[in-house]
Amino acid sequence: MKKKIVIANWKMNHDFYETTSFLRNLLKILLDKKINHKKKVIIAPSFPFLQISNQILQGTAFSIAAQNVHQMENGSYTGEVSASMLKSIGIQKVILGHSERKKYCYETNDILLKKIHISFKYRLNIIFCVGETFFERERKEQFTVVKNQLEETVFQCSSEKMIDFIIAYEPIWAIGTGKTATPEQAQKMHKYIRTLFIDKYGEKISKKISILYGGSLNEINAKNFFSKEDIDGGLVGNSSLQIEKFLKILSS
Ligand code: PGA
Repeated sequence: MKKKIVIANWKMNHDFYETTSFLRNLLKILLDKKINHKKKVIIAPSFPFLQISNQILQGTAFSIAAQNVHQMENGSYTGEVSASMLKSIGIQKVILGHSERKKYCYETNDILLKKIHISFKYRLNIIFCVGETFFERERKEQFTVVKNQLEETVFQCSSEKMIDFIIAYEPIWAIGTGKTATPEQAQKMHKYIRTLFIDKYGEKISKKISILYGGSLNEINAKNFFSKEDIDGGLVGNSSLQIEKFLKILSS
C-alpha cells in the first residue's frame, strides 16, 4: 500500500524563529517516538527559510517543498525565484497552481504549463493543485473544471514525467474557510481524477500518482478523509501551523 502523504503548506506564515523552532520540536517529538505515524511528511515554508529548513531536516524522512517557482530560467523578473535557484540549495519539490496564486498572482493554465516544464527540467517533483470554485460546484461543473485544468497543464506532458507526481484536489470554496468537502465528495473527485490518469497514462502510472485532499483539513476530520480509498493524504494550510494540530493530523 502507498504511504499516505501529508504536506504542510505554511503559505505566508512563520518567521525565521517560528519556522526553525517548529521543525526542531517536530523532529524531537517524532524521534522520541511520542507520536506514532507512518506518513510521508513534506513541509512547505516561505522562500527565505527553505535552506535552513532543509538543513534541519537533512537525514530525516521529512522533506521540503517550495510554494512556487517562476516559469522562466532566469533574467529580469524582480522578486521571483527560479527552478535552478531552488535546486542549487537542495530543494527537490515544488507546489504549483495553488488557487491563491491563481487568484492573487493571476497564474493561468498557460503559465502553469511553463512552470511544469521548468520544474521537470530541474528535476523538481511537482505537487499540482486543482479544484473548482463554489459557483462551479453549484452549477455541477466541478468534474469538467478539474478535467480542463488537467488537460491544459499536466496532461500535456508525457508519461515518463509522471514519476512521483502529486495532485492536490483543493476545492477553492473549502480553502481557509472552515468548510470542507465531505470525505465522500472528495473521494468521488479523487476517483474521477484517477480515472482521468488511467485514460491518459494507463493503469500502472496512475496507481503511482498520489492524490491528496486539501481545504480546511484538520486534526478532527483528517481520519475520515484518509480512510477513503483514493485519498492518498492531505495538503494542509491553517491546521499545519500549530505543532499539536499537525501532529494529530500525522497520527490520523
Ligand atoms: P487550509 O489550506 O487547510 O487552510 O484550508 C489548504 C491549502 O490552501 O493548501
